[in-house]
Amino acid sequence: MDWIKIFDSKASAEAALSENQPRLLMVRGKRICLVRRGGNFFGVQDKCSHSGESLSKGNINYLGEVVCPLHQYQFNLKTGRESNQRCADLECFPVKENEDGIFIGL
Ligand code: FES
Repeated sequence: MDWIKIFDSKASAEAALSENQPRLLMVRGKRICLVRRGGNFFGVQDKCSHSGESLSKGNINYLGEVVCPLHQYQFNLKTGRESNQRCADLECFPVKENEDGIFIGL
């Protein structure tokens, strides 16, 4: 797995990403939906596995799931699983932080 730096520090990540506000991240040609929630960062494929909508245009619900804006399917940010398993799991990308910054694993 390659770890790619996406922010220089946690402070810069927090400045760029609002809590519970999905954001599109382009890394090496991949579209990733990046979410900051509860002090953690989550990365899942941006393309909804149901019908292809961009999940970074969606919302985070009270369960911490990303909700697709097109048909409101709901995906767990840790597992990528849709809450009712109506479509394939999303690909998940681990995010880690250390003293050098925030990194996403591809
Ligand atoms: S395209 Fe995402 S729920 Fe249908």
